Amino acid sequence: MDSYLIGLGNNDTKTRHDASVDFVKFWESQAKKLDWFEPWQIPLEWNPPFAKWFVGGKINASYAALDVQKQDKIAIFWEGENEERRSVTYAQLLDSVQRLANGLKSLGIEKGDRVTIYLPMTPELVVSILACARIGAIHTVIFSGFSAQSIRDRIVDSQSKLVITADGGYRRGKIVKLKDVVDTAISDLDFISNVIVYQRTNHTITMNSKDILWDDLLEKNSNTCPPEKLESTHPLYILYTSGTTGKPKGVLHDTGGYLTHVSATFRWAFDIKDSDVYFCTADIGWVTGHSYVAYGPLLCGATQVIYEGAPDYPSHARMWDLIQRYKITIFYTTPTALRMFMKFGDDIPNSFDLSSLRLLGSVGEPINPEVWKWYYHIIGKTKCPIIDTWWQTETGAMMISPLPGLETIPLKPGSGAHAIPGVDLAILDESGNTVPPEIKGYLVIRKPWPGMLTTLWGDDEKYKTVYWSKYKDTYYTGDYAICDKDGYFWILGRADDVLKIAGHRIGTAELESSLVSHSSISEAAVCGIPDQVKGEVIIAFLVPKEGVSVSDSLKNQIIDIVRKDIGAIATPQSLYFVSKLPKTRSGKIMRRLLKAIASNEKIGDVSTLEDGAAVSEIQTAFDELKKQIRG
Ligand code: WTA
Repeated sequence: MDSYLIGLGNNDTKTRHDASVDFVKFWESQAKKLDWFEPWQIPLEWNPPFAKWFVGGKINASYAALDVQKQDKIAIFWEGENEERRSVTYAQLLDSVQRLANGLKSLGIEKGDRVTIYLPMTPELVVSILACARIGAIHTVIFSGFSAQSIRDRIVDSQSKLVITADGGYRRGKIVKLKDVVDTAISDLDFISNVIVYQRTNHTITMNSKDILWDDLLEKNSNTCPPEKLESTHPLYILYTSGTTGKPKGVLHDTGGYLTHVSATFRWAFDIKDSDVYFCTADIGWVTGHSYVAYGPLLCGATQVIYEGAPDYPSHARMWDLIQRYKITIFYTTPTALRMFMKFGDDIPNSFDLSSLRLLGSVGEPINPEVWKWYYHIIGKTKCPIIDTWWQTETGAMMISPLPGLETIPLKPGSGAHAIPGVDLAILDESGNTVPPEIKGYLVIRKPWPGMLTTLWGDDEKYKTVYWSKYKDTYYTGDYAICDKDGYFWILGRADDVLKIAGHRIGTAELESSLVSHSSISEAAVCGIPDQVKGEVIIAFLVPKEGVSVSDSLKNQIIDIVRKDIGAIATPQSLYFVSKLPKTRSGKIMRRLLKAIASNEKIGDVSTLEDGAAVSEIQTAFDELKKQIRG
């Protein structure tokens, strides 16, 4: 196995040592690096599975991110897809945040109210998040690629009072009309009192009675809004994510614990210095954008680049052009993006000056060793450590990653190395025993950690069953992993019914319920099969109702339903029509068998897998299904 000894010269052994002695005291020492209005009395209240961090402490996320930073420093270099450019200082961000916070108050938004945000990647998205945080409103950001139905579901679940959106945003040279989508989503939702509309594209829009223009609201309101002194445990945001059951779940994060975990990992992983220019390509609609675009960099007073549009638009060189133009030093992206750049060829990055880079990161899916090496050689020119960071929407911040800001360790392409300090990970078998090195098992977390979700919005029971019922007082991640003989973690992918398409989480149950909502379909099952760029793509198996004939028009209608219910990211790549789905005697769909068939694998590779079915049963189902779809 190749390993690469490359670091940034840091060799802090004290941090890991302190964390191993007393993890609660250790996290307290990290929390103290943030600005608190009042200290906490109890560092951790742990009533499994409910944790409260820094109880009694008073803090405000927008204050810690903005007021205490150097005001004349650039917080954001923003680049629109259409090459519009803006530089925003901390002072300017703070000015807008206070105006919007006062604006929200003037519209009746109070501490604890939910505000839905559906905006393109512009500084206004960051301003909106921080304005909510300033007054203690709970923000819930929805990725701007989601459909009206998805927005509606989330707004209804969170009972948001207000929506912040834009007329549109640019994607691949076209205007995505976001306000139209919001209008459809909320047409019958009376509990929405107002919609704030930021004019990004300036195309003509219809203003309804609830609508208020962003510029008017900010102009009317004063730029002084003292931060609300909030309990550390006050909810900061809800972020919906796809899981194994039905509709997306509202992952709820608190304030003090979350900010502590995000800011500590931002420092350790990225070795952030005053002179750095940091660029994370994630959209704020996903958790990576929450933790490492909106909060992490600002809490550490960093300068970052935010880019609005598609990473390969208008040319395949867009990312390298940004790195050269802004002299970016830290670049954090996804394996899907890297696989795409790699396919475009080395000549493109090689024709740019990437010498400013000093650290590279990857997140969201396993990175294949070939891609890691390409990243290391062609982008990093063998001088940048690569951090492969494993974490989840639920964990709030990184849990496994090399930490060049702390230590220099050999890196292994495809492994995220070790758990971060203060986090206790293990790999267990079905009965809860720790597996020996090199043996596959379930990745779990054995102690509470500060960035952890506090519950699922409005559903403590589901929170308990989804994450805490497989093993006692132990958090189940839903991922398979192994630990090698050197103690390096290797994530092998999801062990549950969650797909990772181009790094985005899609629940099979959610997708299947959308597919069967078509009047011609009686049953549906989906699975992911490997794809060279996206990691996985979706394949759907559909059982048509009696007498239905399969046609291209039927296929198109089904795809339209998925796009309407969820969004384009959930579009299946292929649809297979079959007479029945392979199921175990207990009625469970043999998803792995579907996967094997769709990816043309042999049955031998799947017969031992955990569908709980007899081998002969699987074999029969396999042969039958194969005959149907391959003729
Ligand atoms: C996967 C994204 C391998 C994993 C931050 C996890 C990864 C899920 C990695 C969470 C990584 C995330 N290597 N797999 N470095 N990072 N994953 O909630 O399956 O969108 O459970 O959070 O992504 O996805 P989520």
